[in-house]
Amino acid sequence: MKENKEWIPKILALLCRWCAYAGADLAGTSRIPYPPSPRIIRFPCSARMDPYFVIKGFREGFDGVLVAGCHPGDCHYSVGNYYARRRFMLLKELLLFAGIEPERIQMRWISAAEGKKFAQVVNEMTEDIRRVGPLKLKEEALEIILKKEEVWQPLPGSE
Ligand code: FES
Repeated sequence: MKENKEWIPKILALLCRWCAYAGADLAGTSRIPYPPSPRIIRFPCSARMDPYFVIKGFREGFDGVLVAGCHPGDCHYSVGNYYARRRFMLLKELLLFAGIEPERIQMRWISAAEGKKFAQVVNEMTEDIRRVGPLKLKEEALEIILKKEEVWQPLPGSE
């Protein structure tokens, strides 16, 4: 038997239940192959993505975090994915400051009919993270980010 010596990064996948999660489900039921890198958590909407979950994921040893939701205009809560995108962009900038490479945190739109796309996203992200290697976290920088109030403010309209 051939031994597989390739390192498989661990990816925390935060998926909206209506689109991205259904896309992942379709990839599974259609038997579309993809690496066993994602650990999936299902959310009602990508807007439920709390920056704290992402930081906690890295602290718990994940090498990357994928946030995926419905395509723009298709969010089941109207504009949740727009809020998620804004929050995500800010968080990504801050994580760069903590030495977390952009390959490790990605956001994608995946519909319930896009099982192939889900598999493709996982393939691409796994390869991206393989290139940068295992995560080396700067704990002190994360502490500074956790004190950034802008990240933790409620999004407009969500109060
Ligand atoms: S319901 Fe899917 S992103 Fe909002």
